[in-house]
Amino acid sequence: MDPSEDVPDGTVQNVLEQETLKWVFVGGKGGVGKTTCSSILSILLARVRSSVLIISTDPAHNLSDAFQQRFTKTPTLVTGFSNLYAMEVDPNVEHEEGSSDMNDGFMSDLANSIPGIDEAMSFAEMLKLVQTMDYSVIVFDTAPTGHTLRLLQFPSTLEKGLAKMMSLKSKFGGLLSQMTRLFGVGDDFGEDDILGKLEGMKDVIQQVNRQFKDPDLTTFVCVCIPEFLSLYETERLVQELTRFEIDTHNILINQVIFDEEVVESKLLKARMQMQQKYLDQFYVLYDDFHITKLPLLPQEVCGIEALQAFSRNFVTPYQASIVRGTVEEVDQRVSVLKEQLADAEAELEKLKKGKQKI
Ligand SMILES: Nc1ncnc2c1ncn2[C@@H]1O[C@H](COP(=O)(O)OP(=O)(O)OP(=O)(O)O)[C@@H](O)[C@H]1O
Ligand SMILES: [Mg+2]
Repeated sequence: MDPSEDVPDGTVQNVLEQETLKWVFVGGKGGVGKTTCSSILSILLARVRSSVLIISTDPAHNLSDAFQQRFTKTPTLVTGFSNLYAMEVDPNVEHEEGSSDMNDGFMSDLANSIPGIDEAMSFAEMLKLVQTMDYSVIVFDTAPTGHTLRLLQFPSTLEKGLAKMMSLKSKFGGLLSQMTRLFGVGDDFGEDDILGKLEGMKDVIQQVNRQFKDPDLTTFVCVCIPEFLSLYETERLVQELTRFEIDTHNILINQVIFDEEVVESKLLKARMQMQQKYLDQFYVLYDDFHITKLPLLPQEVCGIEALQAFSRNFVTPYQASIVRGTVEEVDQRVSVLKEQLADAEAELEKLKKGKQKI
């Protein structure tokens, strides 16, 4: 048997073909290309799905930059598409005045004193809303690693919070109801009301949590670059995801310098060697993952056209246009060197003339 048959193919085709997928998370270290990659995944999914929503949960939104279009916290159709929507939500933003029943009062202070509960609540509210919208698949452009993992932990954060509030309620319950009576607060606004809300939220959260842990419905795509810190961070991420029982089997290695441009720069050559070392390690560590290599471009990947063009690398593995060591390749290298030599000679000539005048 051909051993290469065992190696998962180096594209995201498996994600595009998995028709049951409902939630696709895209995450990784800061600046490695999460927004670029999640935008492209959403564009590719829009080709095979009836409707796609891409959500940015990064407080420093940049979907607007990638698509060159302004988005808000409600889904907006991406220009040029009939079935791709985008929205940017800020998990840290306080609820708007009047939009929440948790604005005021002792119980809300209590709720806010539980670390992470605010963020967990607004993430849960967002998920509840998105679930009713009936998109075929939802792609998340997440914030840098630590933040994402915190959000994925939100069901347990909320459960702990609830337990704490319940115990406080049983301790101070009597005192509380006396106080609310004393201050003339109506019966409809009391601790039970808020606990009820939290209980309701818990149902959504448990439901979503079940979905996130179901590999038929959810997958996490890791984005990284071929450098030590990113390799290290990816390993941490994969381990955490395993701990949370969240499926992951795709890695996108971005900003790879391919040996196509007949590189003569010492700096680039050194970096290519460095990258190769980490690329090898990625392949050894994640031999059961679909690893997709994406080239480093001379310019940013901005706007729909650039995203569409770059998306090619997600579905067909990169192929060098010139094979190393062939007559063609050496021939090209010689001509590049000749050009560089001619340029350097001309510059030297110019400098010499200038010096003579002085
Ligand atoms: N392969 C590439 N070649 C050249 N430029 C790239 C490549 N991938 C991404 N970029 C550019 O790098 C910048 C950062 O990419 P992006 O915004 O996707 O990263 P990010 O991981 O979302 O960053 P952050 O952590 O800040 O959200 C962008 O300007 C993007 O256009
Ligand atoms: Mg981003």
